[in-house]
Amino acid sequence: MARKKKFNPIILTDRKMTGIAEDSMSVCRTDDGIVCFVDGAVPGDVVDVLITNKKKGSFFGQVHRIIQPSKVRIQAPCTHFGVCGGCKWQHFDYQGQLREKENKVIQTMRRIGKTEPKEYIPILGCEQQYFYRNKLEFTFSNKKWLTAEEMSPEGDVLREPGLGFHRPGAFDKIVDIRHCLLQPDPSNDIRNSIRDFAIRQNWPFFNVRSREGFLRNLLIKTSTTGETMVLLSFHYKDEDAIRVLMDHIITQFPDITTLLYVINPKANDIFLDLPIETYYGPGYIVEMLGNVRYKLGPKSFFQTNTRQAIRLYDRALEFADLKPDDLVYDLYTGLGSIALYTSSHCKKIVGVENVPPAIEDARENASLNGIQNVEFVVGNVEDVVNEDFIARYGVPDVIITDPPRAGMHANAIHTLLRLECPKIVYISCNPATLARDVELLSVKYNLDKLQAVDMFPQTNHIEAVSLLTLK
Ligand SMILES: C[S@@+](CC[C@H](N)C(=O)[O-])C[C@H]1O[C@@H](n2cnc3c(N)ncnc32)[C@H](O)[C@@H]1O
Repeated sequence: MARKKKFNPIILTDRKMTGIAEDSMSVCRTDDGIVCFVDGAVPGDVVDVLITNKKKGSFFGQVHRIIQPSKVRIQAPCTHFGVCGGCKWQHFDYQGQLREKENKVIQTMRRIGKTEPKEYIPILGCEQQYFYRNKLEFTFSNKKWLTAEEMSPEGDVLREPGLGFHRPGAFDKIVDIRHCLLQPDPSNDIRNSIRDFAIRQNWPFFNVRSREGFLRNLLIKTSTTGETMVLLSFHYKDEDAIRVLMDHIITQFPDITTLLYVINPKANDIFLDLPIETYYGPGYIVEMLGNVRYKLGPKSFFQTNTRQAIRLYDRALEFADLKPDDLVYDLYTGLGSIALYTSSHCKKIVGVENVPPAIEDARENASLNGIQNVEFVVGNVEDVVNEDFIARYGVPDVIITDPPRAGMHANAIHTLLRLECPKIVYISCNPATLARDVELLSVKYNLDKLQAVDMFPQTNHIEAVSLLTLK
């Protein structure tokens, strides 16, 4: 087999970053016009670039030396910045991030959707630029990732266990996190206390390569109602150790409202198919969106930025301009968060989702709130929204659709075109598939309104909400 040719690093001097690419890297060109993707830069920076790789005709590298910092470059506040995989835009000032995100939505709609909205509404930024997440998942590792400063030149460092996030692109490398700026208190204290206590007890942290060790994962969910859920995942059942750890957590953090654990003997970290043990509390937390209460279990999918989700849903409601007699379909409803939030504004709403436990949550949350004008249907939108479905529920006045990153299935788009519902509110976490679907719908629909919404500050992720009206 032919050996892969080793790339000899080169330094490219005095390059101005002209834009930003999909994966948060900045972009510049060589004098010959070759595109270079640069880690650690922001648009407008002039830097020397250390090029370490070439793939498909493009160079890849990182900042070697900053010559002239961009006006939008700021000091990243997190001590883990650059090492941990999250929050890659902390060195990019927030207004600059918003401009970049907004531009991406507009340009993508032009390029792929070949459409200009009748009205473009300026991006909805996030009021909280840090500590906005209600859920974080951490991984235990018997050998934490060592930063350059932690490595001794002799290579005789002690390999300590760690609890934190994966290094970007590395399944077996965990960055030990001491202070994360993503989730509100008491998230950092809980994680640090669990790690330090486990080290003192000498319990083995998981070794993902040999698949040995006791402690595997930690999930923390917080809510704007002040409730906290902690879920520990263990590789095997050691009843005494579990009891000691759980009691330690409750004693140290009496405000935790529910404490759970799961035994995960599998090769992967996914616990969705495993039974959860409730050690303390009811086994769920309660979150509120407006006046609606949502009961969230450890397996429930929920928008991770609660406050901004309310603003997103409010914008969707404004676009939908619902009337008391309206019939609404909420496609890709998840646990019915939009359907339940919207239910008081219309006559009836039907939610469709293909994950059965999410629909169980949706039904339970409907009855928890005494909401009777919603119905939930399990199945793929492209399959279940058919002639029988339409005969049963009727042609909707408004469709709200919030598909996953892949966008809507072609058959679902055909159904929408056949249905000829007067208004479609399309929420999307991927501007490219939104633009593709808007183009497909353009045979019968105008794009009236489009707005980018920032759900995840310090990252390149962007959500958009749009209104399509029947021609
Ligand atoms: C972006 S989430 C939206 C969830 C919800 N609307 C919300 O705001 O929380 C997309 C949802 O679509 C579901 N889904 C993915 N493919 C689907 C399909 N083909 N048919 C129905 N639901 C699907 C996913 O399970 C997920 O719950």
